[in-house]
Amino acid sequence: MEHATIPGPPGLPLLGNLSDIDAENPIQSLCTLTTKYGPLWRFRIGSAERVVVASQALMDEVCDEERFSKIVAASLEQVRNGVHGGLFTAYGPQEKEWGIAHRVLLPQLGPLSIRSMFPEMQDIASQLVMKWARHGSDHTIQVVDDFTRLTLDTIALCAMDYRFNSYYYQKMHPFVDAMADFLKVSGDRARRDAITQMFYRAESQKYWEDIELLRKTSLEVINTRRENPTDKKDLLNGMLNGVDPKTGEKMTDDSVIDNMITFLIAGHETTSGLLSFTFYYLLKSPSAYEKAQAEVDEKIGKDSITVDHLTKLPYLNAVLRESLRLSPTAPSVGLTAKEDTVLDGKYPVKAGTPIVALFPMIHRDPLAYGEDAEDFRPERMLDEEFDRRNKEFPNCWKPFGNGMRACIGRPFAWQEALLVLAILLQNFNFTMDDASYQLKIKQTLTIKPKDFYMRAHLRNGVS
Ligand code: HEM
Repeated sequence: MEHATIPGPPGLPLLGNLSDIDAENPIQSLCTLTTKYGPLWRFRIGSAERVVVASQALMDEVCDEERFSKIVAASLEQVRNGVHGGLFTAYGPQEKEWGIAHRVLLPQLGPLSIRSMFPEMQDIASQLVMKWARHGSDHTIQVVDDFTRLTLDTIALCAMDYRFNSYYYQKMHPFVDAMADFLKVSGDRARRDAITQMFYRAESQKYWEDIELLRKTSLEVINTRRENPTDKKDLLNGMLNGVDPKTGEKMTDDSVIDNMITFLIAGHETTSGLLSFTFYYLLKSPSAYEKAQAEVDEKIGKDSITVDHLTKLPYLNAVLRESLRLSPTAPSVGLTAKEDTVLDGKYPVKAGTPIVALFPMIHRDPLAYGEDAEDFRPERMLDEEFDRRNKEFPNCWKPFGNGMRACIGRPFAWQEALLVLAILLQNFNFTMDDASYQLKIKQTLTIKPKDFYMRAHLRNGVS
């Protein structure tokens, strides 16, 4: 077959397509450009080319791990300044640290181990219920902020038995501030060339100080655990004591630190975004909201929620899946061809060229999801239809990434999100703070709703 050129916006000689992409919300720009150039297109930042894939068929093609692998580029390369070869930022199996951590941690984060973390998850979720109940229905809830406090406190408690107690402070814990600033500046640095970067001396100094604070605090947590051993089955014990079944080696202290910070980074914004978008979609879809609350009332009632209840909530499951379809909180992943290749049968792509898999568009492919792909309709995500669609249109729903580099925290995130959704619907009726609110997106490493506020009304007769 004849080779064809991948289309894309023309761009300027030195800057490439920098001006076509909104620095504050690049994912939105990529989605808009997809509607213009189709599901396969390219752009340049400076002279570096990137290819965008934005349909189910192309996603299916790049999910072939024989031909494609994860690429660590742009922001992720900068995040490596702080967490090196931690699971999320590792180059892959060629980095020994990744293999050992992956094999040691996979069982620790499997569904069975996650079940045992339920009491801690419930502890933090109940504190949120108490906080919102105390504030009353006149209080405007900063949805994203409170869910971020919840997910951070949950991962810190479950991973290393550490309490940030974020609900009780207006200001965040210094570790959390350092982590947020480190992530933000990592993203900013990725958009600058080396010469421009030299003009950011003060920011750079603070950046490296933040990294030092994160690593020093993590080392203190490790040392405290060594001095006060417990037989608790948390991730920290798993990392300190686990032995890699393949090499017989343990994780080094540096790798434990890299991964401890990695879990806090990877394990909170994504889940907090998922919960925030879910409440937005439910509040905009009263019939879905009613069905979700009815399921909680029928299956759980006024009982204290147990881990077994969570297996009996098909509609809530579907709600979370549908929310992640429309608003995948990790909105893209970077891949690359292992060897020069041809995409879609005719478009040559060089090995090493970053390929951006654009989930918000892949998840709206009308071929896989039909003409109502834009609508929030959880029914399409109930097991039977979900399984049938994934068989017919493989890889049409990929919010947790692909293959061996897929999200290792998925069971953790799912249990946490289901529990929180259930406990909140059980205890409150929610309303939008401003009924005319239209979804706006804030993007960092992840996406979240911007300026989204709601109110919580304690339900009568439910404890
Ligand atoms: C990887 C999404 C929650 C830990 C990933 C990737 C995605 C993702 C798309 C692949 C990234 C890539 O290919 O570059 C999500 C979403 C979440 C979530 C949507 C919640 C709704 C969590 C949680 C944890 C976690 C709770 C920790 C407990 C990780 C780690 C990796 C990862 C360590 C890297 C795995 C590896 O490459 O070996 N996640 N994640 N994630 N996630 Fe998650």
